[in-house]
Amino acid sequence: MTSAQVKPAVAARMPTTRRYLMCAPEYFTVEYSINPWMDPTKPVDKALALAQWTALHDTYVELGHKVETIEPQPGLPDMVFAANSGTVIDGRVLGAQFRAPQRAAEADFYRRWFVENGYHDVVMPTNINEAEGDLAWTGRFLLAGTGFRTDPGAHAEAQEILGVPVVSLRLTDPRYYHLDTALFVLNEDEPNVAYYPAAFSAGSLRVLRRLFPDAVIATAEDAECFGLNGVSDGRNVVLPIEATGLAAQLTERGYEPVFVDISELRKAGGGPKCCTMEIRG
Ligand code: ARG
Repeated sequence: MTSAQVKPAVAARMPTTRRYLMCAPEYFTVEYSINPWMDPTKPVDKALALAQWTALHDTYVELGHKVETIEPQPGLPDMVFAANSGTVIDGRVLGAQFRAPQRAAEADFYRRWFVENGYHDVVMPTNINEAEGDLAWTGRFLLAGTGFRTDPGAHAEAQEILGVPVVSLRLTDPRYYHLDTALFVLNEDEPNVAYYPAAFSAGSLRVLRRLFPDAVIATAEDAECFGLNGVSDGRNVVLPIEATGLAAQLTERGYEPVFVDISELRKAGGGPKCCTMEIRG
């Protein structure tokens, strides 16, 4: 091979160690429908869901991250989606208030976990706020989704309680009902994201283009398999196995895709990020 044929090597990116909170899908099932992915008439393989969740948990540990767990509760089948129950920045915790009554009780179990684990600054929101489902920390500001779940009033409340600038984004496709089904943060030092443009309103799309001119743009296929529900540590990006197109784009930019199978959890409208709350500070 001549040197002209050698592709310039992309510099490998540096990961940072993360701390995550997860909840095993011990009582996982699809018995109600609060998003278009949920079909209570379709069977769910609980043992497989637990095996897939365990593989996700173990993937984080192998990548060197610290994973905490919270006790699952009977009667709360969606409690596995830890990302919906808190937003933690600099040790400040903003809890959740769910839109669906079926999930309401989850919020207090998570609030208690933080209090019992030494967090003194725990505030529960007065507006509907599905936490990291709709709130994505970029390292400098918080991207905040609305349209289906989190109330726009929760955005101003998050800014006031967490003391971080908030940028509101409007979601328009019911399949991508949470911001974390349509966008995720790739790295925080020089904030960049991957997103699926068709999930956003025209104005929000202009905002995203202005903030992230170098963003990774996902296809409909990437979005449909929950590829935008990825979890990045700045280098390793945990993705559903089907998100091959997105993975190829990430590899070109120096990220390392790490695949997990989340087929059972997707039946509830969830993916890797939904199962993973990040605890910052
Ligand atoms: N069944 C859950 C719901 O509709 C799924 C939540 C997924 N979590 C997420 N962070 N997107 O509320």
